[in-house]
Amino acid sequence: MKTSIIKGIGYYVPENIVKNKDLEKIMDTSDEWIQERTGIRERRWVLENSDESTSSMGTEAAKKAIDNAGISHDQIDFIIFATLSPDYFFPGSGVLIQRNLGLKEVGALDIRNQCSGFIYALSIADQYIKSGMYKNILIVGSELHSGGLEKSTRGRNVSVIFGDGAGAVILQASDDLEKGIMSTHLHSEGKYAEELAVISPATKKWIDKLVEDPDEDGSSYAPYMNGNFVFKNAVVRFMEVINEALVKNNLTKEAIDLLIPHQANLRISQFVQKQLALPNEKVYNNIMKYGNTTAASIPIALAEVIEKDMLNEGDVLCLAAFGSGFTWGSALIRW
Ligand code: ACO
Repeated sequence: MKTSIIKGIGYYVPENIVKNKDLEKIMDTSDEWIQERTGIRERRWVLENSDESTSSMGTEAAKKAIDNAGISHDQIDFIIFATLSPDYFFPGSGVLIQRNLGLKEVGALDIRNQCSGFIYALSIADQYIKSGMYKNILIVGSELHSGGLEKSTRGRNVSVIFGDGAGAVILQASDDLEKGIMSTHLHSEGKYAEELAVISPATKKWIDKLVEDPDEDGSSYAPYMNGNFVFKNAVVRFMEVINEALVKNNLTKEAIDLLIPHQANLRISQFVQKQLALPNEKVYNNIMKYGNTTAASIPIALAEVIEKDMLNEGDVLCLAAFGSGFTWGSALIRW
């Protein structure tokens, strides 16, 4: 019997910092509105015309995670890549990581679970490790949102929120059953798929049809989000799925040493914190610096937590996420 531990971690964010004040110059918004509604002060957006891509940022994060784990590239058995902003429509970005890192011809799986992507990836990797199939799995969450955002007043409710970046972990098989992933919990509710989505171009509306019939309302290419509705669902589902993990492991909320919620909105994190009656030092947020980096948000935050030495051996770490799909999930990890 094996357990899965996070053996290495790394992250990468583009250098270019975009402050709320910078956005005031290109759309009708304000630093005050953005901070008050979301907590965000700045985000990273790759420079236009730069060579950076979702896979290149993921590759940088992956290199750091591999170094941090102290393993060689040859020891990686499998790749899982979570993103909603892949380099290409197909193939997925996992194979690009395999190429960029010069890995052996190992399997590469792309998953599309948006803000819950990292937790879904962790859950899949955990099953492979516990079944004995693989020993070292590279998980990457990476997003290049800035290229797809509508940076105008029309798109302001979405574009001010999202940032670019990547995080990666090495999930490794361990014999120490006292440590590692205790459980993961995954959910979806597809009836709300269109409440937070990029509808076209896709097979429902292919690019040639868009040329013939461009959407007057600009719904092509740009993400649509029914923000208020998403917010209301998020706070309920976050609580449900965290409680589900606690119940599964016969724990109460007091057992949580550190909560890393997906960084969608500081107000969502604060609501969850209040419901769980957790003190500030038990909840980690960095949305102020990076905005919402979707599948990358949890691994970036976890990498910062490790940098700051905020986790001790034996601590209970809780990860939770909610996003487009709707999909949501949680993971409890004994550090
Ligand atoms: N600047 C200034 N005003 C704005 C902006 C902006 N950037 N965006 C919207 N507004 C205006 C609206 O037009 C509206 O004006 P009106 O009252 O005159 O009509 C007003 O501000 C309020 O808009 P709301 O959308 O109701 O604002 P809300 O308080 O809901 O905040 C937000 C919007 C931040 C998007 C919030 O709803 C939210 O965070 N939702 C959840 C997001 C989330 O969790 N997403 C899931 C993860 S993402 C993923 O999975 C890909």
